[in-house]
Amino acid sequence: MDNSFKTFLKHTAKDFHNQSVNPPVVRASTIIFKSMQHIRKTQLKAKKDPTGGHYDYGRQGTSTTHILEKILTKLEESYHVFTTPTGFGAVFLAIFSVVRPGDEILVADPVYSPTRLLTQDYLKEFGIKTIFYDPRNLKTLKNNISKKTKMIFVENPGSNSFEFQDLKKIISISKKYNIITAIDNTWATPYYFKPIKFGFDMSIVSATKYYSGHSDVMGGSLAVNKKVFKKVKAAERITGLRLGPDDAYLITRGLRTLDVRLDRHRENAKKVAAFLSKNKKFKLLYPYKKDSYNFRMWKKFYSGASGLMGLKIKSKEINSVRKFVNSLKLFGYGYSWGGFESLALHQEYRETGDRRYLNLAKDEHLVRLHIGLEDPNDLIADIKQALRYLK
Ligand SMILES: Cc1ncc(COP(=O)(O)O)c(C=O)c1O
Repeated sequence: MDNSFKTFLKHTAKDFHNQSVNPPVVRASTIIFKSMQHIRKTQLKAKKDPTGGHYDYGRQGTSTTHILEKILTKLEESYHVFTTPTGFGAVFLAIFSVVRPGDEILVADPVYSPTRLLTQDYLKEFGIKTIFYDPRNLKTLKNNISKKTKMIFVENPGSNSFEFQDLKKIISISKKYNIITAIDNTWATPYYFKPIKFGFDMSIVSATKYYSGHSDVMGGSLAVNKKVFKKVKAAERITGLRLGPDDAYLITRGLRTLDVRLDRHRENAKKVAAFLSKNKKFKLLYPYKKDSYNFRMWKKFYSGASGLMGLKIKSKEINSVRKFVNSLKLFGYGYSWGGFESLALHQEYRETGDRRYLNLAKDEHLVRLHIGLEDPNDLIADIKQALRYLK
């Protein structure tokens, strides 16, 4: 019988050897062998079976990281998953594995701002050109492809502005021109969308968010298909970007309840979205209204939505927007998201950066809300009381 993934998450990685329901944390810098022959045997095995969890040094991981990578490989339906110390480490590893001096990279305009800084500023210093494309107009993607284009880097939906893109079109363009594709899938996780199965070569998730779920650990994952595996494996070795065992343990523990938490985030967010969508003072940036392009692009590819959403507020009085956000009592103010708790952020220039295609007038403001696992009626009541300050 092939159990569903929900059941798999509850039953996987039991440790009958130590008689514990969860696997132990194996910490090691030195991996110890009984003899030199054993070292050589392991090295041979690692060469023949590079995803099999054969290590000769702690930087390559231990059984704790291997268990997490195996679980994530199943969730992603990918060839392999690499785990990194942060989500941004996975972004870096994906790009570093593929692009070289003289290459060009096409990047979605609304990417996470550190991804923008990495591509736009740092890659430039290495002779790599970045061109940002408009997530709503893929002609800006297609028309900018050249012989030098090595990679298309997508983030869906866009960070803070939540544009949903036509992913099918992106994959078809990339296949036509034989360009490697990567997507930052942190918002949905493979629980709601499986990029590798869909046709992407690489898929990034910040494990700091929903995988861990408790706002107390950082990590990242990079899922790959067979085509790019060797390139990423080589880059992983040379950069030393590898998740530590304690963090791997916490993320594995978080994954046990990923489906339960995400289902509840989705339900809570839907209730809050139903309330917010009725207000004329702002535009809700979440796939809720059925007649919108965003909704159609979400519905076409995703089986669910997570708890992160935005509001585009039209107001000439920025102080009233600040007052609205500051008057929320159940929403914490802080970066990151994907934990059990609700969060709010007023997006100013620092968060959006200098985007080319940000559709935002001078009197429009972005607010980001993460809808947590509290009672949604309490969250709605809290937003309701704060809304009186919005002018
Ligand atoms: C969409 C997205 N990708 C990547 C990252 C980076 O993840 P981390 O904070 O784990 O480095 C973040 C963090 O906020 C994010 O929002």
